[in-house]
Amino acid sequence: MFDLKDLYQEVIVDHNRSPRNFGKMESPDRTLEGFNPLCGDRLTLYLKMEGEQIDDISFDGSGCAISVASASMMTDAMKGKTAKEAEEIFNNFHELVTTDGSNVDSDKLGKLAALAGVREYPTRVKCATLCWHTLHSALEGEQTAISTE
Ligand code: FES
Repeated sequence: MFDLKDLYQEVIVDHNRSPRNFGKMESPDRTLEGFNPLCGDRLTLYLKMEGEQIDDISFDGSGCAISVASASMMTDAMKGKTAKEAEEIFNNFHELVTTDGSNVDSDKLGKLAALAGVREYPTRVKCATLCWHTLHSALEGEQTAISTE
């Protein structure tokens, strides 16, 4: 029987141990820092854009296992997406982790759906969404660091 909780734990451990797209980018088009003042964790997101499309994306910083795993999965999923597609995925992801998921378009989420388990731990939702809020603001052209509070 497929167990969402097991998958969730597995994905967090894997992406935290070897985060994808981790590291500072040489000459990014956009750089934005996201900060969670409740714990002091911060990450920086680097974007290379090709018009409206995310050509390359990476992150660095220090954070808890959930924030690192979420940023790792998000950056993997965002390469090649347009800003509009990224926004749709962001909305679905937010719905996934903050509601019972009944309105989620799981086709749009792909592997990100494994993070649904975070909804069992409401205090960790901000950990999982820190990178997403940062991306959202970076795509909007925001240049000042964003905070979860
Ligand atoms: Fe700081 Fe998770 S505890 S982002």
